[in-house]
Amino acid sequence: MTATIRSILVRTHACTCSSLVLLSSILVAGCSQDSSTGPSAPNAVMSRESGGRTSDLRGVLRAAGFTGQVGLTLEARLGRPVDRRVAELGRMLWFDPFTGLNNDNSCGGCHSPSNGFGDTQSIAIGIDNNGIVGPDRGGPRNQRRTPMAINTAFFPTLMWNSRFFSASGDPFDNSRGFIFPPPEGKSLSYLSHLLQAQAFIPPTERTEAAGFKIPGTSHDLRQAVLDRLNGNRAYRQLFASAFADLRHGRPITFDHFGRAIAEFEFTLVFANAPIDRFARGESEAMSQSQKAGALLFFGRAGCVRCHAVGGQSNEMFSDFRQHVAGIPQVAPSHANVIFDGPGANEDFGLEQVSGRQADRYLFRTSPLRNVGLQPAFMHNGAFVRLEDALRYHLDARSQARTYTTAALATDLRGPTGPSAPVLNRLDPLLRRPVALSEEEFTQLVDFLRYGLLDSDARPNELRGLVPTTLPSGLPGFRFQFPEGRRGSPTDR
Ligand code: HEC
Ligand code: HEC
Repeated sequence: MTATIRSILVRTHACTCSSLVLLSSILVAGCSQDSSTGPSAPNAVMSRESGGRTSDLRGVLRAAGFTGQVGLTLEARLGRPVDRRVAELGRMLWFDPFTGLNNDNSCGGCHSPSNGFGDTQSIAIGIDNNGIVGPDRGGPRNQRRTPMAINTAFFPTLMWNSRFFSASGDPFDNSRGFIFPPPEGKSLSYLSHLLQAQAFIPPTERTEAAGFKIPGTSHDLRQAVLDRLNGNRAYRQLFASAFADLRHGRPITFDHFGRAIAEFEFTLVFANAPIDRFARGESEAMSQSQKAGALLFFGRAGCVRCHAVGGQSNEMFSDFRQHVAGIPQVAPSHANVIFDGPGANEDFGLEQVSGRQADRYLFRTSPLRNVGLQPAFMHNGAFVRLEDALRYHLDARSQARTYTTAALATDLRGPTGPSAPVLNRLDPLLRRPVALSEEEFTQLVDFLRYGLLDSDARPNELRGLVPTTLPSGLPGFRFQFPEGRRGSPTDR
């Protein structure tokens, strides 16, 4: 396992979500009172400029409550060490199509180590796939892009429309319940972490993993998965050695499944990026260009107003709230999910869960750590280059006029769903275009792609997590790992 849990530090949670708004307005006003001197450079002008950037950025990060230490808080917040044996079992389950009742998918078919445990596809392909995980994956599409599962231990709300969340605002704290849409509702709140509860859901999703052969409710589908696990000698042994209460032949329950999956996810914390190292005092961890990009992000470009780092955002670069970002509506020609709207070519986002028309097109602010590992961007992978996604995001209303699906996979290149109703609801914070010079644009991209990248999460580092054989004896997926372009995050 590559992820290492380093020393443990305790963090306090003084800052609430509402104070984030206040914080960000202070940030936009700028803070450069820091008087520490930068590193000396041969050129005096350069030296002043880079020293200024370093001390400005220190001040900005401090004001935002960014410490660069969140990754180190995991075990303190769990209140115990990560259990390696349970995590190792979770890793097997993650990659074993045995847990998918259609026999052809599991978490790893969509959340792939080749892309930070996110997808290789713009829109997920679940059941009836061709066994490949990578650019050549084929099969009917679901509705959205699979987000990266790394760092989800720190997410207080899950999914593109935040439909699973911890009511306390803290995924480690179940005291106010874990809220899911029906039929689960609050019933999974007895589990100790939001991810343990979340793991109950994918095996019951028919288009993702369960398929249509076994009738019944979510409960019946979970029972069918448990029957498989309990009927398999290798899994019975693995569960019994991971969980003390299963030692004497008691049957595996879904709690054990959820705990194993979540434990594996706890090992997937990759929050040691240049910006973290910089915040912890390593002035040279970020390049000048990344620092300039970060200053734009936290300052004039206004990104941190939504991609927040303080308080309950756990330094994940998201407020974990919903906004309309005006993203083009990509509609696959071959899908096994019926899309929304009169043309069945839309995604209503939060409205799908709340039933409120006012929530139409609302999607959660994307957490941005390790975004450079993604092959596609936004909730439906409407963009396959970070530059294109960002250019659009800076001025959605004018970019929407020239957007095309030409860069996407063939089955996504058809006409898009309507854009006017989406743009009419564009978040007020995104209505005024952010004007950047070409140099500033490049700096911002540099910050996003490299300044937020934990290099331990690159494909070659995670490749070893794919099991060579599976407890079920089934053949695993065929992973296509990317050939890194020179200088890209996937290049070593
Ligand atoms: C068919 C592909 C597919 C499979 C299989 C799958 N997922 Fe996902 N996963 C997704 C998609 C798509 C989303 C986002 C869905 C949405 O927001 O509507 C998601 C979201 C998530 C999230 C929330 C991430 C975030 O940013 O909030 C977690 C955690 C997660 N999945 C874990 C799992 C686990 C654990 C399994 C296996 C038990 C699994 N997934 C199986 C496609 C998949
Ligand atoms: C009004 C809140 C808001 C502001 C301000 C904002 N964003 Fe976003 N951002 C979002 C939302 C919401 C999404 C997801 C939209 C979707 O997929 O439908 C997103 C998505 C992204 C993505 C794609 C990530 C992914 O996983 O695909 C990037 C990159 C990004 N934002 C960067 C920025 C930068 C850089 C700025 C500042 C110039 C910025 N954002 C300003 C709300 C915001």
